[in-house]
Amino acid sequence: MAVGRWLLRKAPSGRQAALATATVPRRSVRTRVDTEVTMADFTGKVGIVTGGAQGIGQGIARRLLADGMSVMVADCDAEALQELQVDAGGTPRLMTLLADVTREEEVRRLVELTVQRWGRLDALVNNVGIGINKPVEELALAEWNQVLATNLTAMFLMVKYAVPHLRQARGGIVNIASTRALQSEANTEAYSASKGGVVALTHALAVSLGPAVRVNGICPGWVEVGDWQKKARRQEPRHSEADHQQHPAGRVGKPDDIAALTAFLLSPEAGFITGHCFPVDGGMTIKMIYV
Ligand SMILES: NC(=O)c1ccc[n+]([C@@H]2O[C@H](COP(=O)([O-])OP(=O)(O)OC[C@H]3O[C@@H](n4cnc5c(N)ncnc54)[C@H](O)[C@@H]3O)[C@@H](O)[C@H]2O)c1
Repeated sequence: MAVGRWLLRKAPSGRQAALATATVPRRSVRTRVDTEVTMADFTGKVGIVTGGAQGIGQGIARRLLADGMSVMVADCDAEALQELQVDAGGTPRLMTLLADVTREEEVRRLVELTVQRWGRLDALVNNVGIGINKPVEELALAEWNQVLATNLTAMFLMVKYAVPHLRQARGGIVNIASTRALQSEANTEAYSASKGGVVALTHALAVSLGPAVRVNGICPGWVEVGDWQKKARRQEPRHSEADHQQHPAGRVGKPDDIAALTAFLLSPEAGFITGHCFPVDGGMTIKMIYV
């Protein structure tokens, strides 16, 4: 018998419910599109989600919490972290830390505090990412460097400090890349290059850290995060029928879609999967378009 079923409802109304129930052991979840999936059992496991106060990262953090994991959410937005804590209603399995993961000392402290609190580290989700999209001749070197530092170098730093603990726990890493690592729109050079770097970093790490640590990535397509922001920035998504229908899957993505694969890749069921980045894009990258 399933030990509890619950509805990951549309944020913001579902946020509180999701976190409030996160302390109860559960085996299955109904998603917003009403499909039932088996939940991983991460009871006793510990993870870090970077950029987990909002957007996709928050979706991942909620999912791992719901699957029983103790989760450290690191983010550079103090207000968003505080709102997440309030939503969580004081569950002891959520810890938040204000940190800029492009800074080595803050990364070192983030990993140290996580291990101090729970004594181990099983999962690292490198989710932080930003974009600065401009014509290449207008893109300042400082902007290029900022995107690379946030999207790629921060991952290196996180892995560097997390690896000794992940090795010990025989844990896993999930890096959030983008379908823009595989295909492009104009004026996205810094973002696309950084995400291409994430794909390469993922397979390089998988070879270096295996078999103790598995390393995989996800390339999200269009994932609507407007309603997964802190209150001051939250927006109700407005999509046209065409926005949805251009996707072979028939809809725009949501953080739950990325969270579901993250949980699977971190689970023992994915034990033969390492070094790959998986598009989760409603089928957009396999669509041939000539206009
Ligand atoms: N939303 C999409 O459609 C989409 C598509 C493809 C890939 N992605 C990738 O998914 C990841 C999450 O994207 P999102 O849309 O949820 O973004 P978001 O802006 O909604 O959330 C990102 C979070 O990261 C935090 N953050 C930013 N820089 C940080 C830093 N230096 N240190 C600590 N925290 C920091 C922000 O405060 C924010 O809470 C990114 O890597 C992004 O490139 C998103």
